[in-house]
Amino acid sequence: MKNLLLSLLLLGSLSAENLRIDTIAENFRDPMEISIAPDGSVYVLEREGRLLRVNPDTGGTFVIGELPVTALRESDKKSPYAREDGGLGLTLAPDFATSQELYLYYSHPTELLNRLSRFTLKGGLLDLSSEQKIFDVITDRRDTVCHQGGSLKFSPDGLLFLSTGDNTNPFESGGKAPIDDREERDHTDAMRSSGNTNDLRGKVLRIRPTKDGYEIPAGNLFKLGTPDTRAEIYVMGCRNPFRLSLDPKTGYIYWGEVGPDARKADAKGPMGYDEINQARQAGNFGWPFLIGDNKPYPILDFTTGKPGTLTDPAAPRNPGSRNTGLEILPPAQKAFIWYPYSKSSEFPVMESGGRNAMAGPIFYHDAKRPWNLLSKEDDHSLITYDWMRGKLWKAKLDQNDDLEKLVKISDGLRHPMDLELAADGSYWLLEYGSGWYFNRDGRVRRIRPGGGNEAPSLEVEAVAGQANRWQVKSASDPENEKITVEWWLTIGTAETKLATGSTVTVPANTGSELRAVAIDASGNRSIARVPLNGANQQPKLELELAADTLAPGGTLGFKVKGLGDPSQAVVRLRYIAPAGHDSGVISLSKPVTKTLTARLCFACHQTDAKSIGPRYTDVALRYKDQPKALETLKEKLKKGGSGTWGEIPMPPQLAITEQEADAALRAVLALGDVMSETTGSAAGTLQAPTTLPDHEPGGAWEITAEARGHQTTRLRIAAE
Ligand code: HEC
Repeated sequence: MKNLLLSLLLLGSLSAENLRIDTIAENFRDPMEISIAPDGSVYVLEREGRLLRVNPDTGGTFVIGELPVTALRESDKKSPYAREDGGLGLTLAPDFATSQELYLYYSHPTELLNRLSRFTLKGGLLDLSSEQKIFDVITDRRDTVCHQGGSLKFSPDGLLFLSTGDNTNPFESGGKAPIDDREERDHTDAMRSSGNTNDLRGKVLRIRPTKDGYEIPAGNLFKLGTPDTRAEIYVMGCRNPFRLSLDPKTGYIYWGEVGPDARKADAKGPMGYDEINQARQAGNFGWPFLIGDNKPYPILDFTTGKPGTLTDPAAPRNPGSRNTGLEILPPAQKAFIWYPYSKSSEFPVMESGGRNAMAGPIFYHDAKRPWNLLSKEDDHSLITYDWMRGKLWKAKLDQNDDLEKLVKISDGLRHPMDLELAADGSYWLLEYGSGWYFNRDGRVRRIRPGGGNEAPSLEVEAVAGQANRWQVKSASDPENEKITVEWWLTIGTAETKLATGSTVTVPANTGSELRAVAIDASGNRSIARVPLNGANQQPKLELELAADTLAPGGTLGFKVKGLGDPSQAVVRLRYIAPAGHDSGVISLSKPVTKTLTARLCFACHQTDAKSIGPRYTDVALRYKDQPKALETLKEKLKKGGSGTWGEIPMPPQLAITEQEADAALRAVLALGDVMSETTGSAAGTLQAPTTLPDHEPGGAWEITAEARGHQTTRLRIAAE
C-alpha cells in the first residue's frame, strides 16, 4: 500500500504540466549543440557552421561567427555526399568567463576529416584566426555514409570528452550489423571504425587539453603505449553516440546511442535497439558486434549471406580485414536502458515509434539554487530524451547508480537535440526544428518547474499612422503584479535598450529586430518580437544615368546619391542577352555550375554574392584584360593561398581536374567580357564592352550601384 501511494504521488508531481517550457529564441537553422556561459548566455552551433549567442534575458540572438564546414546544403539536397557532416559539437572552456575560449568539432571544409579545435572569441565574435587544432578524426563522406556523433563535454576536473560516430552507411546491411568485409564495401563496414581499437571513430574520446595541445589522462581504455590502440579512447563500440552527459559527482558518463533499423530478430541478428549508456569507467560497448543488453550479432559473410559465429560478450573479436587494431577486444558492456521501435518489454515507459536516444544532464536537488526542476525525491536522476519521440524522461538512480525508476516528464517537443543545466538550476533545451535538414524553426527553450509565480503575457503592435513607432497592445500578469516593459533593438551583433514603458520609437532604418520584454514584480519575463527586416532598413542608393540607351563600346555617365563616403561606391554595368529569362541574378552555365557544385567550390564562393571567398564576378573584373589570368588562377587553385582578397586562405583545390578547372575558370573570367565597373567615386562614366559574345537586338544593360551598409540599386536601359 505504501509503495502504491508513493508511486501515485510521484506520477502526480511529475506530470508534463509541472514543467514550464518557455521559448527564448527561435528561427535557428538545424542547431546541433549548445553550451551555457557562466553569465547565462547560451551559445549555439548550427549544422552549416553558424555560431550564435542568445541573451537569456532579452531573447536577443546574434550570429557571432561562421565556421567554414563541409555540410549538405539546400542547393544540393539529394547529394549522397556528406549527409551528416557540418558543425557537429560545441562546448565552452571551463574558464570561458576569463579566457573566452571554446571548443568546436566540425567537418573540415576541404579535407576528409573532422577537426577538434580551440577558438577564442574576440570582442564577443568568433575569431577564425585564433584556431588551435587539438586533433583530427579521419572521415569518409561518400555513399550516404552517416553518423558523426560530435558531442563535447568537460568534466569538472578539466577533462574533455568527445563522442564520434561509426562513419558508416547504415542502409546496406538490412538494419543489422554493418560488417561487410567484401572489397570496395568499406563504406558499410564498422569493423574499420567502432570495432577498431586503432581508430578514433565510433568512440567516446577523453583528453586533457593543454596550452599547446592535449595530454592523455590516466584511466583511458588502453594503457599508454599499447600497440595497435589509440590512447584517446575512453569508450569504444559506439554507433552514433549523440549527446553526452557527465555526472559531476561520480564522474560517470552517459550517452544516447542511436541504433540500427531492423524491426525483427532473425538468423542475421537481433532487432535494432537505441540505448542509453552509462560508463563508470573506460570500456567497450559492443557495436558493431553486440547491441542492447549484449545481444550478439553473428559474423555475417556478406558474399554468401551466411551468418557465422555469434560474438561472445566476454571476449569479442574483430575479424574484419580493415581492422588495424587488436583482434581480441575488451569485454562488452551492456546498455543501461535499451528500446526497439515497438514497445519495450523491459522499459515500456519509453513507448514506441521512431527513435534517436539522447542523454541529458543529471539532476541533483540543491535548495540553494533558485530553481529545482524536479523534487527532492528525484535527487540524482538522469534526464534522458529522444529526438524522434520528442519526449523527456527522468531516470532515478539509486545509491549504487543503478536504475530505480523511469518516468516520462514531457512530450511534444520539436526534435530535442541538446539539454544543458545552467547555474541557476534552469535547463536549456535545444530543439533542432521540424525536419531532417534545412530547418528554419529550431528553438532555444528554457525549462523550469511549473507552478508558482507565472510570467506575464504581452502583445505589441505598430502605432497606426506613425512610422517606426510601436506600443504595448495588451499586458497582463496572472498574479496581477506590476509589469515593466523594456524595448530592445538588435543592431548587427549587439543590442541596445531603447526605452522602458508602453511605447517606443525606433530610429529610422536601424536594426533588425525589436523586442518588448515584459517583466513582472517577481522577475518573470516574456518576450514579444518584431522583425524589422534589416536589409530593407538600410538606406537605398539613388542612381542617375545620363542616357537611356547604350551601344557596345559607348560610355554612360552616372551619379550616385545618398552615399556618405564616395570612396565606398561600386558601380557596375553588365550586358543581358535578350534570350532566356534573366531573373536579375548572374549565373554560370549549367555544366560549369555542376562542376563547381561537385567540387565543393560553392561551399566558399557564390557567383554574384560575397561568401567566405570572393564572388566570381569580382574575380572576373579583377583579372579582366590580363593575358595571364587563366594560368595565374589555375596555379592558385592548385596551391591555394591567401592575401589577394583578404586574410582567409583558400586551401589547395585538389579534387578538381585540370580539364574541369580550365573550363570553370574560363567561364568565371568570361563573366568579365560583358561587364565593367567604376569604383571609388559617386560620379563618373561606365565603359560598355566593345564586343559582346551574344549581342542581339532586344538586349539590355543592367547598372548596379552598391556600397557597404546600403541597399543595392539596379536600373536597366536598352542596348543598341
Ligand atoms: C574553403 C573555402 C574555399 C573553397 C572550398 C574554394 N575556395 Fe576559392 N577562394 C577561397 C578564398 C578564401 C579565396 C581568396 C584567397 C585570397 O585572398 O588569396 C579564394 C579565391 C579564389 C579565386 C581567386 C584567386 C585569386 O588569386 O584571385 C578563384 C578563381 C577561386 N577561389 C576559385 C575556386 C574554385 C574553382 C574552387 C573549387 C574547385 C574554390 N575556389 C574552392 C576559398 C575557397
